[in-house]
Amino acid sequence: MEAKRVSDSMVEMRELILPNDTNILGNLLGGRLLHWVDVAGAMAASKHAQSIVATACIDSVDFNHPVHVGEMIVLKAKLTWVGNTSMEVMVEVCSDNYITGETKFTNKAYLIFVALDEKGNPKPVPKLILETEEEKREYQDALKRREARLKRRASNTDKQCL
Ligand SMILES: CC(C)(COP(=O)(O)OP(=O)(O)OC[C@H]1O[C@@H](n2cnc3c(N)ncnc32)[C@H](O)[C@@H]1OP(=O)(O)O)[C@@H](O)C(=O)NCCC(=O)NCCS
Repeated sequence: MEAKRVSDSMVEMRELILPNDTNILGNLLGGRLLHWVDVAGAMAASKHAQSIVATACIDSVDFNHPVHVGEMIVLKAKLTWVGNTSMEVMVEVCSDNYITGETKFTNKAYLIFVALDEKGNPKPVPKLILETEEEKREYQDALKRREARLKRRASNTDKQCL
């Protein structure tokens, strides 16, 4: 498998916030935003792996600013780390009020996707070529996040249903 650059699988996605996406105050619902974060991340991971992917994990997400009905959001997704069959994707979200031109950084999330073969089993993914200092720094930070996730995963394996 040929290694790929981060830029080869970057995704940018825009959504217009419609009334059906909002709560009674006219602000974007958190669950709807998470859906788009998941979709943008999955597209970047699928493009890198050239494969179907499953979401294994979404790290905590902070909602920094409300996004209002009628505004746009811009989601940018890029690979930050790859393992054997799993990939970490960073998704950043900004709101864009196209009337006033004001933009705000609203969210950032890290997600783990696993590449799956036709039987639904994890399959290897291409290595990641790191070209910039920022990509190298993100990769090192991703190693620490992975350690924390694997510890959390291990502590959940024996949990029983209520
Ligand atoms: C994600 C899933 C495919 C992993 O399958 P598995 O048989 O447990 O496979 P493994 O234990 O070998 O894990 C595969 C890879 O994912 C990583 N991984 C799995 N769960 C993880 C988690 N919660 N956090 C971080 N990494 C995780 C493993 O570290 C491994 O990485 P590596 O191959 O790069 O070293 C499986 O748990 C699953 O199907 N989960 C449900 C997914 C889902 O329904 N998502 C929502 C809809 S898409």
